[in-house]
Amino acid sequence: MIYSEKVIDHFSCPRNVGEIADADGVGEVGNAKCGDIMKMYLKIDEATETVTDVKFKTFGCGAAIATSSIATEMILGKPVSEVLKLTNQAVVDALDGLPAVKLHCSVLAEEAVKSALSDYYTKKGIDPTTIKGLSAESHEEEREHERENED
Ligand code: FES
Repeated sequence: MIYSEKVIDHFSCPRNVGEIADADGVGEVGNAKCGDIMKMYLKIDEATETVTDVKFKTFGCGAAIATSSIATEMILGKPVSEVLKLTNQAVVDALDGLPAVKLHCSVLAEEAVKSALSDYYTKKGIDPTTIKGLSAESHEEEREHERENED
């Protein structure tokens, strides 16, 4: 299995590891097959709807650590409207690719970010399923594809 230099860099020196005690949104996702778990904490400035801080904790494989690390870099300082458009493919591209058997790790990174945003909206009293980018069916097709690849 060949990993890009970026994957190795983010795995060896992950950025933004940790927790945010007073996070505005916390998301936790896992993959039942491999058992890996990713937790993402967001601080969001209400006035500008911008991600002002992000931390993560991943109990998982090297690719899961690398994808969550680069995902935090991709969303830090970005408006929520842009973060909602984050895809696992963008995460993979930012890492200069991942081996096919590791693509599901990038899905976990996207899901962790979106789960944290869902929590943010829920805390604000907004139903997250009404937000474009967070609705349940957004990546259903991709997940089907992942499942096929895993089997
Ligand atoms: Fe499951 Fe990487 S092997 S997230």
